[in-house]
Amino acid sequence: MNLNKNYSNLQDSYLFSEVSRKVREFKEKNPSLDVVSLGIGDVTLPLCPVVTQAMHDAVTEMGNADTFKGYGDYEGYDFLRNAVCGYYAGKGVTLGGDEVFIGDGAKSDIGNILDIFSSDNTVLIPDPVYPVYVDTNIMAGRSVAYMSGNAENGFLPLPDNSVKADIIYLCSPNNPTGAVYSKEQLKSWVDYALENKAVILFDSAYEAFVQDKELPTSIFQIDGAKKCAIEFCSLSKTAGFTGTRCGYTIVPNELVHDGQPLGRLWFRRQSTKFNGVSYVVQKGAEAVFTRDGLAQTMDSIKYYQENAAIIARALSKLGIWYTGGHNAPYIWLKCPDGMPSWEFFDLLLEKANVVGTPGSGFGANGEGFFRLTAFGNKENVIEAMRRLEEMRFGT
Ligand code: MLT
Repeated sequence: MNLNKNYSNLQDSYLFSEVSRKVREFKEKNPSLDVVSLGIGDVTLPLCPVVTQAMHDAVTEMGNADTFKGYGDYEGYDFLRNAVCGYYAGKGVTLGGDEVFIGDGAKSDIGNILDIFSSDNTVLIPDPVYPVYVDTNIMAGRSVAYMSGNAENGFLPLPDNSVKADIIYLCSPNNPTGAVYSKEQLKSWVDYALENKAVILFDSAYEAFVQDKELPTSIFQIDGAKKCAIEFCSLSKTAGFTGTRCGYTIVPNELVHDGQPLGRLWFRRQSTKFNGVSYVVQKGAEAVFTRDGLAQTMDSIKYYQENAAIIARALSKLGIWYTGGHNAPYIWLKCPDGMPSWEFFDLLLEKANVVGTPGSGFGANGEGFFRLTAFGNKENVIEAMRRLEEMRFGT
């Protein structure tokens, strides 16, 4: 018996489990301290009323012999797939229900999609970025090339025609930097992918936070993208589903390589390894896309956007460089006094009892940066900023 040796090429632990471990140890040593977490991007507001009502109704159905459901369709119920199509129609994107695959969140699908690609593909991943893209490829033994995101390019790397890639990851609005690609910039990625017969894996988990109307919220708003992109989205951040679990992956019918529609391969993978999201959760998800659901969900998003503005104001007052926060729930700041990311993490935890995420956990280019999330509750965000101001960096 041999183990998968690729695991020895991974960092010891997943970024967010390392952060949790450190925070847990700190709390054990200091049980009386009130630690404020602006670390992992986990929501704090509850599910909205139309969602919980739909789920209650679904539970009732499941308890009644006439309406009880056993296994659902592997790719999700039609009612939810069609609701997702309706949501995309509002973005000017026409989709068929058969192009939408319901899953338990973007993270799983982003990791699992690799099953349909050969392991000798070259993968291009922005640095810094959500660590799941890198880790899942390392687990599968793929070679990863990095493209540099930095303050100069606004943390939005663009294609370099001298680099040949088969699979390209893009995350916009970006986790961790909050940067958002414009339509023109995304078009250059679509053109590159079409020219190189590459596939773009587009993570739009934070699309609901985009406030500037001219910015794209789906790669399918770009001409040609249906021939070269797969989009992953989730209700985790949009509608507070981090603990409820539901997302969707869009594999357009036009996406065909070597005569194989990729949607067919994805369905083959999912129907073999996945038994679908529960009926109750899919009914809750469907309610998100109703008029009331979208309005109630938007109230929560506005609440988080206000948190982001509170953080941004505090950082400006302190003279700390930051970006993001306007079209994304993340604020990406430069660690004060030139501190490395983990040193700033420890200092903030020990002196202000505030948790953030070290930028270096998102890639080498994140060293010296730090991420704060706007998903906390407002009182905690205000308190965290008050403590940050008391630390008097650089004075
Ligand atoms: C994050 O904090 O980056 C996210 O919450 C992690 C995730 O979505 O898996």
